[in-house]
Amino acid sequence: MRKQIAAANWKMNLTIQQGEQLLDAIIAKPHSLSADQQAVFAVPFPYLAMAQQKIAGKKNVFIAAQNCYSKKSGAYTGETSVEMLQSLGISVVVLGHSERREYFEESNQFLADKVNICLEYNITPIFCCGEPLRIREAGTQNEYVAKQLKESLYHLSADQLKSIVIAYEPIWAIGTGKTATTEQAQEMHAYLRSVLAKQYSSAIASEISILYGGSVKANNAKELFGCPDVDGGLVGGASIIAADFITIIRSLK
Ligand code: PGA
Repeated sequence: MRKQIAAANWKMNLTIQQGEQLLDAIIAKPHSLSADQQAVFAVPFPYLAMAQQKIAGKKNVFIAAQNCYSKKSGAYTGETSVEMLQSLGISVVVLGHSERREYFEESNQFLADKVNICLEYNITPIFCCGEPLRIREAGTQNEYVAKQLKESLYHLSADQLKSIVIAYEPIWAIGTGKTATTEQAQEMHAYLRSVLAKQYSSAIASEISILYGGSVKANNAKELFGCPDVDGGLVGGASIIAADFITIIRSLK
């Protein structure tokens, strides 16, 4: 069974005190996550150590970084290496979020390098893909998203691919309150799985968790996660409201 994952993306929000309170409020509640379910919190870099300490001993709960650099170490002022993350016990990194692609010009090739270094250090990338509104309106979203996967992931071996989590996030649905319909989400997720099946095998494709992101809320998570090819969500706005994210975790199938 592939993993069902509720991943919180705090983005550049909250003070450390607010972050601590939020984590306390969420992880204090018993979620009885099954072996196939995970809760992941992608917190800002300065909060990683605090967050990692808070979840110590919690089963199926992970702290993630929101980014990392593609080089091992060296003169890259302001960047964070996977070795640094690993030394904090971090085992998950969000890569290629549309905000990084747009504001920091992260290309598919650059992301391929980041994917490689994460895998080298046994860190699971949550690899984000998704189309902007003009592409959706032109009806070419499948080709657009497939190209993102091809250029950043297809060099991986089947074994390596199995360590990747994919997050499909239509950019027009991020932070807009405009969620993709369950039909739109299921259609794209099934398409991405078919593309992976073609490139690798259907057995491999069926093992990859594909999360949906873009205005996942407490009141639509159950329906979205209920789609056969939607394996949970990457959640921004609703992940920094304790009660909402608890509901979202409980909506995992
Ligand atoms: P949102 O953000 O839930 O606020 O739309 C999702 C994301 O960007 O990961």
